[in-house]
Amino acid sequence: MNKRIAVLPGDGIGPEVVGEALALLDVVAELYGHTFHYDYGKIGGHAIDEEGTALPAETVELCGKSDAVLLGAVGGPKWDRGPTHLRPETGLLGLRKALSLYANLRPVKIFPALRDASTLKPEVLEGVDLLIVRELTGGLYFGTPRERRTGPTGLEVVDTLFYTEAEIERILRLGFELARTRRGHLTSVDKANVLESSRVWRETAERLAPEYPDVELTHLLVDNAAMQLVRNPRQFDVLVTENLFGDILSDEAAMISGSIGLLPSGSLGAEGTLGLYEPVHGSAPDIAGQNKANPLATYLSVAMMLRTSLGLPEEADAVERAVACVLEKGVRTGDLAQPGERVWGTREIGAEVRDQLRGGVRHG
Ligand code: NAD
Ligand code: IPM
Ligand code: MN
Repeated sequence: MNKRIAVLPGDGIGPEVVGEALALLDVVAELYGHTFHYDYGKIGGHAIDEEGTALPAETVELCGKSDAVLLGAVGGPKWDRGPTHLRPETGLLGLRKALSLYANLRPVKIFPALRDASTLKPEVLEGVDLLIVRELTGGLYFGTPRERRTGPTGLEVVDTLFYTEAEIERILRLGFELARTRRGHLTSVDKANVLESSRVWRETAERLAPEYPDVELTHLLVDNAAMQLVRNPRQFDVLVTENLFGDILSDEAAMISGSIGLLPSGSLGAEGTLGLYEPVHGSAPDIAGQNKANPLATYLSVAMMLRTSLGLPEEADAVERAVACVLEKGVRTGDLAQPGERVWGTREIGAEVRDQLRGGVRHG
């Protein structure tokens, strides 16, 4: 199979984890007889430095022509004080919008080998398998006005949480559909006791529910959801929620798996075809350039890409198995190693996963 992948390494640890992910994809290609073409694009801080914009037009064009997009992370202290249009994050938000990637899927699973890696008690984590469906092109991130202005008392500042009913319905429907393919439970997370947008969100979920009689719908206020996620994460199957709520809850949920360095994500477009795959974590400036980053979130994002956008489920399974086996062997980057344990570098754990993939596929 011949596929074109747009590769946007970004900033900080982005190029390190994406570099390892491509080396892994090369092994997938070699073992299964595929050809993956990588077309590199700029986004984020280095694009600001080199092109004067966080999202060059060529990058959007490149992604549009690809079968899938693989992204590292954007951002860093160097660009934190810039005006909005010169912020790395604006590039990522712009790309999501330009590609109409309205749904961001963030699965959270426990690797048995990492039972003790989380800061939560192992018995709370046993068997957790949940999926956060985050609305990605609306909500508080995109509403206007969003500005500073001068009012009667001086500086005023406004952000806007805006949704059309159609946007809410679209993401809720996806939540119902995905719950249907899993354990049949959908938790709609909102703040309907305060926000008008959440009241419409809840009403829309209720209106759709009769169309999905095989799905059990529950509503949860977002503050309670944050608490329930660490109290008893096993109660959840699919959670569907607004953009900012989903951003916050997914970083929280990362600690169920043991590290933010393990959580993958895939963002789907309106036609359900083009997908953008990226780890949930950011550019981690504190460890960038030191061979310390955990590349597994990016590997697992690659597995999502293989399965969802490239139609290669067997290859996706093989990548996930290789990651699980390497963890079983006790191989850990610093974010997961217990005190006194050996710490593997980004490149060294990368080599282990590639060897495991080769061995696993050759020996069935
Ligand atoms: P972060 O996710 O970059 O880092 C949070 C903490 O987790 C840090 O201590 C970091 O070292 C650690 N960490 C993250 N990924 C890791 C990995 N793969 N392996 C080991 N440790 C890892 O969040 P932050 O520090 O709040 O943000 C840093 C920058 O990244 C900011 O500019 C932010 O805007 C940006 N960011 C980008 C994305 C993205 O591109 N999708 C996501 C989140 C944050
Ligand atoms: C994420 C990140 C982004 C977001 C930032 C970098 C714009 O935190 O992908 O989770 O908030 O969506
Ligand atoms: Mn985030």
